[in-house]
Amino acid sequence: MAATTVFFCKECGYETSKWLGKCPSCNNWNSFIEEKIIKDKKQNRTFNDKSAVVKLQDIQLKDDIRIDTGYEELNRVFGSGIVEGSISLIGGEPGIGKSTLIMQICNNLAKQGIVLYVSGEESETQVKLRCDRLGISSPNILFLNETSIAEIENKIEEIKPKFCIIDSIQTMYDSEVPSGAGSVTQVKEVTARLMYLAKRKLVTTIVIGHVTKDGTIAGPRVLEHMVDTVLYIEGERFFSNRIVRSVKNRFGSTNEIGIFEMCDSGLVEVTNISDAFLSNNNNILPGTAITGTLEGNSTILLEIQALTSHSYYNMPKRVANGVDLNRLNMIIAVLEKRCNIALGMNDIYVNVIGGIKIDEPAVDLALAISIVSSFKNIVIPPTYVFIAEIGLTGEVRSINNIEKRVKEVEKLGYKKIFGSKKQLDKLKKEDYKIELIGVNSIEEVINLVMG
Ligand code: TYD
Ligand code: MG
Repeated sequence: MAATTVFFCKECGYETSKWLGKCPSCNNWNSFIEEKIIKDKKQNRTFNDKSAVVKLQDIQLKDDIRIDTGYEELNRVFGSGIVEGSISLIGGEPGIGKSTLIMQICNNLAKQGIVLYVSGEESETQVKLRCDRLGISSPNILFLNETSIAEIENKIEEIKPKFCIIDSIQTMYDSEVPSGAGSVTQVKEVTARLMYLAKRKLVTTIVIGHVTKDGTIAGPRVLEHMVDTVLYIEGERFFSNRIVRSVKNRFGSTNEIGIFEMCDSGLVEVTNISDAFLSNNNNILPGTAITGTLEGNSTILLEIQALTSHSYYNMPKRVANGVDLNRLNMIIAVLEKRCNIALGMNDIYVNVIGGIKIDEPAVDLALAISIVSSFKNIVIPPTYVFIAEIGLTGEVRSINNIEKRVKEVEKLGYKKIFGSKKQLDKLKKEDYKIELIGVNSIEEVINLVMG
């Protein structure tokens, strides 16, 4: 077998014959690593033992069997449960809680069949300690400390588990591939083998993948096209909220999220998603405004905080946490030009409470209001919610799904909602208990709340 070397982008798996500084596919810098590959490796895999040509119309559809994970939040992200025989990838930074979440799911999966938990990362004792901490003890969970994919395949053939967990894909290797474990070629090869096994033997497989910026470890993005479902666990180190987000789902919608909280005894579902991120601080001070953002099918209420203070630099500081800095700069410019608010001599800090990141324009209005509130030192009543985009001319613009957001905000007992006049006028006022205040420009809102 002839071995040649090629270069792979460790972020997305892009392949070239020479080293490149920047990946043309995912635009990451310095992400190429050299790996040996075998050109003429035999690839004779099929989903069935015998392949045959059939008429598409003759194929009998079996109902997708959906497996309950035991967590409503997670079932939704998977698209009402994990599909039997599917292969899913769960990615996230080290320490975010991937192993914890999967172990908790295992406890529920074990009620429906044998679960084989393969760890190449932690020893038996470590896994056992976590189990004890999570209060998990099921005779149906089998543990295997192994990193060779061939061995894992043998064990799966032998035990015939209904579920298989691979923790993590970057520690597994195929001895026929010349590069080390965690390299792009290895990760792809091992996943391909697991995928064929999952489909042929109907083993529902969950693969864990680390997202790391350093080292030569291939990121989970390399595998995204091979698996059925891709979920990422997000969260900030210093916050206990964990967001499970689906970025690819062959059996359901993407853009769904589920929210969990990391507690002493593992991850706990957060059921009141809509106000999970509010600080519930009764001591209201200037510089805070509330908005409603859409994540998948859920409306989440978020608190935006701003602080403006006299700057001692030639170039005032602009700091944005959780929102895009360019967006913040644009809003500051609009406030200066259209509302004559002289922010030029002020440092401005903006923060979204709860460590969540938002990139939809519907938060513009709340962002602007929080800045002005801090600047003028005027408190915004905590029962007001602001949902709209702001244009460059200072106009307040429509956003998507306003009805859904208004309903959710109303349900939580807020009194007034500020948004685009054009959009709110279309809603029937008598249907809502909450007062809908439509405005045309940012100046108008400022006069109404802080005039
Ligand atoms: P882990 O699932 O091992 O992360 P990953 O597999 O993604 O690398 O868990 C990471 C963190 O979670 C660890 O720092 C400890 C914390 N943790 C809790 O706070 N409560 C718990 O019950 C458990 C099991 C872990
Ligand atoms: Mg882990």
